[in-house]
Amino acid sequence: MKRKNILLIGGSHGIGFEIALKLYSEHNIYIASRTSENLGNLEVTHIPYDASKDEIDPSALPERIDGFVYCPGSINLKPFKMLDPKAFEEDMQINFMFLVKIIHTILPNLKNSEQASLIFFSTVAVKVGMPFHTSIAAAKGAIEGFAKALAAEYAPQFRVNVIAPSLTETPLAKRLLGNEKKKELMNNRHPMKRVGQAEDIANIARFLLSDDSSWITGQVIGVDGGMSTLNVN
Ligand SMILES: NC(=O)c1ccc[n+]([C@@H]2O[C@H](COP(=O)([O-])OP(=O)(O)OC[C@H]3O[C@@H](n4cnc5c(N)ncnc54)[C@H](OP(=O)(O)O)[C@@H]3O)[C@@H](O)[C@H]2O)c1
Repeated sequence: MKRKNILLIGGSHGIGFEIALKLYSEHNIYIASRTSENLGNLEVTHIPYDASKDEIDPSALPERIDGFVYCPGSINLKPFKMLDPKAFEEDMQINFMFLVKIIHTILPNLKNSEQASLIFFSTVAVKVGMPFHTSIAAAKGAIEGFAKALAAEYAPQFRVNVIAPSLTETPLAKRLLGNEKKKELMNNRHPMKRVGQAEDIANIARFLLSDDSSWITGQVIGVDGGMSTLNVN
């Protein structure tokens, strides 16, 4: 199997970290994030990078990027009347605009790959309307539209797919799963009777980054314990 160069924007925690754990022995992993302490001695290349402030240093990147995953995101759940336009703007920035910016920067590196695979994250709350999700659903909806158009424009050279998780136990979701009672409530909301684990999402990301998925592009894949498609309650 050919060793790929895979760039994870945000692989220091959560889902991105789990992807790094699954892939580092088979591929060259580059993690661009604000912190690196959690990486310990993991054999990856860390690039200090804050998507909200910095341009990524192109000289720190490999010339050829075969896989790309953008992990920064937000969970800002409030009634619409409490979400002012600034809150929408902030969600749009971290989830979508900084993603667009980094892809512009790394286009030449992606083009050096035989077939680059790009993965973005959406949320179950784009397919299913949920109260208090107006801002995040709008930002992630932008990602879904962008991903499909980008996939069309760059086919067959790039594959672009989106993973749409439901609630997954990571640092980002800490506030929603802060105690056993909250967790039980959230577990029970899902047809599969549990919230997601980072590994549930990393498994599909590994597949999408591999050549086993070379005929899959422009898809939004729900990894959500049945939340987007089943009504069992
Ligand atoms: N967890 C869920 O319940 C859930 C549900 C639906 C969708 N999602 C989506 O799935 C994706 C991954 O979520 P997660 O739960 O793994 O998130 P997470 O636990 O917050 O991890 C995010 C990663 O991105 C990095 N990051 C955050 N802001 C950054 C910035 N400004 N510049 C560079 N790196 C930054 C963080 O590293 P540093 O802090 O070191 O920078 C971290 O490695 C997100 O897009 C999220 O919206 C998650």
